[in-house]
Amino acid sequence: MIRKKTAVLISGKGSNLQALIEASRAPDYPAEITLVISNRKDAEGLKHAEKAGIATQIIPHQDYPGRESFELALQQALASARIELICLAGFMRILGADFVRLWPGRMINIHPSLLPEFKGLNTHARAIEAGVREAGCTVHFVVPELDSGPTILQARVPVLPDDTAATLAARVLAEEHKLYPAALKRVAESF
Ligand code: GRF
Repeated sequence: MIRKKTAVLISGKGSNLQALIEASRAPDYPAEITLVISNRKDAEGLKHAEKAGIATQIIPHQDYPGRESFELALQQALASARIELICLAGFMRILGADFVRLWPGRMINIHPSLLPEFKGLNTHARAIEAGVREAGCTVHFVVPELDSGPTILQARVPVLPDDTAATLAARVLAEEHKLYPAALKRVAESF
């Protein structure tokens, strides 16, 4: 089986990265994580990659005069590693339309809400504030418009009466760790 060379882009903790690394250890998993890129040198998730022996690259956005040059550096790193698929996993930079258009159907993101509800940040606090009974997470293809693009998979969890943003986030995150590997599998098998 040819495994699709996959890069994971992170900015922080990298618990989703870790879930993807674990899933990709199965010999029949259709994607292989061969590169982890962080825009922050202190991203904790880099440790998961290093432990797993995966190449890492730090591309600090503040070292570049603008988004275009930052994204050119990203693209160069991805191209030189012959990456075929990109997973955004807590990558806290908005990617411009020109970059996104280089990866049609080849770049996916995980968002901690039931899209199209609660795009953007602070999803759990907003879900509680809105009084919804269900929350969840979505893996979707990335398109130029933020937190939009066709849904690949979604998982739902209940919102409990005494939930705080933190307790709800933890319940959703546990689902994210199952959902993202399942969604990447589906996409990697599809081409
Ligand atoms: C997750 O909640 C993900 O849905 C969102 O950012 C968070 C990243 O968490 N996009 P981690 O870095 O994978 O632990």
